[in-house]
Amino acid sequence: MTFTVRAPAKINLHLGVGARRPDGFHPLVTVYQAVGLYDDVTVERSPGWTLGVTVPDWIDADAVPVTGENIVDRAARLLAGHHGVEAHASVSIAKAIPVAGGMAGGSADAAAALVALDRLWGLETSDDDLLSLAAELGSDVPFALLGGTALGTGRGELVEPVTDPATWWWVVVPSVEGLSTPAVYRRFDELDDDPDVEPSSAGTLLKALATRDPHILAGALHNDLEGAALDLRPDLADLLEEGEQSGALRGLVSGSGPTCLFLAESADAAREVAGLLSAAHPVVLVTHGPVAGSHVVTYG
Ligand code: C5P
Repeated sequence: MTFTVRAPAKINLHLGVGARRPDGFHPLVTVYQAVGLYDDVTVERSPGWTLGVTVPDWIDADAVPVTGENIVDRAARLLAGHHGVEAHASVSIAKAIPVAGGMAGGSADAAAALVALDRLWGLETSDDDLLSLAAELGSDVPFALLGGTALGTGRGELVEPVTDPATWWWVVVPSVEGLSTPAVYRRFDELDDDPDVEPSSAGTLLKALATRDPHILAGALHNDLEGAALDLRPDLADLLEEGEQSGALRGLVSGSGPTCLFLAESADAAREVAGLLSAAHPVVLVTHGPVAGSHVVTYG
């Protein structure tokens, strides 16, 4: 029996970050959107535990944590421990989400692994339990289960769906070098050391989604980590400028970066922006959101 589960990348349409909490995490008010770049996790029965990863030619295989250190190892141990079963499976991850890019590729793999192994081992874990196991694995793993568009609070792990009736078109430009999420949050702390700051509200963004108008959404996009990401990677400011000059309505850093996102007016406009950016950037992707969360795509 083989199961393949597909999990989407996320972007943050609004990322409001508050002052560091005593546990080291930052309180967030964020609006996540799942977009159509996916990692697939395939699992099958095995007498022990093996994990393999395949990548497209534009992803550096060495940037993906090897077995033993991959978040999928932790996901398997956590799920198996929760039910008191052995974590035995042969697992392969087919990556297409940029690695260390601010699009939650590792979180997508963890979410997909939870769903796939739950099926393989016949555990029938409840949705509530899956969401709390996901939250233990990482702040944006619950959203990778849920998909669509959702409001995230707490450290990002508390998710509730929000209405998002349009399809939005995005151009995605990954970076050759990744950025470490903790390093970006550390720089955020250095740049913004007000100990009382609360995460900014997502009200404007939520209203913009309801208009279905990309020009209005463009004006409402907001990322509090952008300053820290640009401080660590000043070259990204030029890329954001270039995308806007190529016809994008707005460029922004994805989450903690360094992937950059460009909102386009339509599918055709996105392809045009991507065509122009391709002249200077080796990897330029066109995608759309919202899309579904982690789901089984094949079994047999
Ligand atoms: O939860 P996750 O494992 O994705 O977090 C990775 C790191 O990002 C944390 O160790 C922390 O440094 C930072 N982080 C944070 N506040 C959040 C989410 C993540 O400081 N809300």
